[in-house]
Amino acid sequence: MQVLNPFAYDQADKLLKKLDLPVIDRSQEGSRYWGEWQGSQLIGLVGLEVYGHLGLLRSLAVDPARQGTGLGKQLLNHILAQAKDLELEAIYLLTTTARDYFIRFGFAEIERHLVPTEIRASSEFHSVCPSSATVMVWRG
Ligand SMILES: CC(C)(COP(=O)(O)OP(=O)(O)OC[C@H]1O[C@@H](n2cnc3c(N)ncnc32)[C@H](O)[C@@H]1OP(=O)(O)O)[C@@H](O)C(=O)NCCC(=O)NCCS
Repeated sequence: MQVLNPFAYDQADKLLKKLDLPVIDRSQEGSRYWGEWQGSQLIGLVGLEVYGHLGLLRSLAVDPARQGTGLGKQLLNHILAQAKDLELEAIYLLTTTARDYFIRFGFAEIERHLVPTEIRASSEFHSVCPSSATVMVWRG
């Protein structure tokens, strides 16, 4: 797992588009992305936006050719370790496709109106994800 250099964001967008996920929001300050590479190919990606003691998980993506090999678990566990290091109280996410996957890692569904204002103000909540997406939270 490596911190993703902004020069690799185009490659990250390619992977995200392949999986029908929103591309990286380059205007969002405080976003961190990590990637897993196979040679020069980006095969896995995950992002975390930090708002004080709260986090927003974004862009968890594993290349279809590598899905089901534990890479998603590795990427998510990396984010949960980051949460511990950064002493985050909670991590929020939006998903339309992987609710049951996140439940395995201790995330639980939450009603949108219960999400703290700073997370709701993020571009992901505002515009990037459809309003029908499931909102989930993990508490440290
Ligand atoms: C969701 C995703 C990150 C999982 O990564 P992965 O590397 O394939 O998953 P792992 O190898 O860690 O785990 C595989 C297990 O998770 C299950 N799983 C995979 N995707 C799932 C999903 N969307 N919903 C529920 N379960 C899922 C598999 O069936 C498998 O189950 P098993 O252990 O009982 O056989 C990956 O499938 C992906 O990139 N999907 C498309 C993008 C996406 O939906 N991202 C999340 C949006 S925020």
